[in-house]
Amino acid sequence: MLGVLGVGTIATAMVTGLSEGDNPPDILLSPRNAELAAKLAAFYPNVRMAGSNQAVVEQSDVVLLCVRPSDAPQVMAELRFRDQSVISVMAGVPLKVLHELVAPAQHIVRAIPLPSVAVRRGVTPLYPAADFSRELFDRLGRVIAVADETAFDLFSASTATVAAHFLYLNRISAWLTARGIAQRQAQQYVGAMFAEIASSLHGSELDFGMLMRQHATPGGINELFCRVVGEEGVWEAVDKGLDRVQQRLMP
Ligand SMILES: NC(=O)c1ccc[n+]([C@@H]2O[C@H](COP(=O)([O-])OP(=O)(O)OC[C@H]3O[C@@H](n4cnc5c(N)ncnc54)[C@H](OP(=O)(O)O)[C@@H]3O)[C@@H](O)[C@H]2O)c1
Repeated sequence: MLGVLGVGTIATAMVTGLSEGDNPPDILLSPRNAELAAKLAAFYPNVRMAGSNQAVVEQSDVVLLCVRPSDAPQVMAELRFRDQSVISVMAGVPLKVLHELVAPAQHIVRAIPLPSVAVRRGVTPLYPAADFSRELFDRLGRVIAVADETAFDLFSASTATVAAHFLYLNRISAWLTARGIAQRQAQQYVGAMFAEIASSLHGSELDFGMLMRQHATPGGINELFCRVVGEEGVWEAVDKGLDRVQQRLMP
């Protein structure tokens, strides 16, 4: 039995991906977000909602921790774990702290699932990549077995860039809108442009430099834009932002 503590965005994506894959595992959900948990349980025959968080812990061989990091100390303090396996997807909660939160459980893995696990196209860094965690995340796409916790936190830091990606798209669309293009058309156009190029990002043999060159005709407008924003220090700002996130995750 896979138990889930915290049924929010990422738990829903994982439960969906697992339940729609082959041989779905039995899944027991915590009851706090009852409407969503009940909906998943009604939709997938392998999914049930538990009466309490403690019931999730007691009935599960593997417990998946999907609460927000700030809620974790209080949620875990109320629970009695035994020696079951634990997978935490909580960003920025190191193994040392996890060991204290779920003692006496010993087999603890950290994972960084992406929302694309919902359609089993995730690429999930795991540390340590214990067999029980590989078995689970192999069902949801691919696994990256990370060498140590520092490397794991670097992958985690890189996920802080997603909202900025949408901010970037919003900026482009707002630039069009400010110059008289209807907002709906601007957003539709920018969305279509980036949705199409995003499809070239699936696969394991990626070369971003090559993709960039393919889209930057020498002397053309993509090349011009790259040069101008580069001269303004945009790429250094990206490094700086990531450095700050790394410092937060690895103080
Ligand atoms: N979203 C992502 O793409 C993503 C990716 C990788 C990792 N993560 C990690 O996954 C975790 C959850 O993120 P999320 O985006 O899924 O957040 P979320 O949507 O807010 O989900 C967290 C859930 O935990 C519930 N919760 C709070 N207290 C609880 C309790 N005492 N018992 C049971 N459930 C409780 C919340 O309920 P209430 O809303 O009622 O408080 C909420 O449904 C975070 O630690 C985050 O770092 C997220």
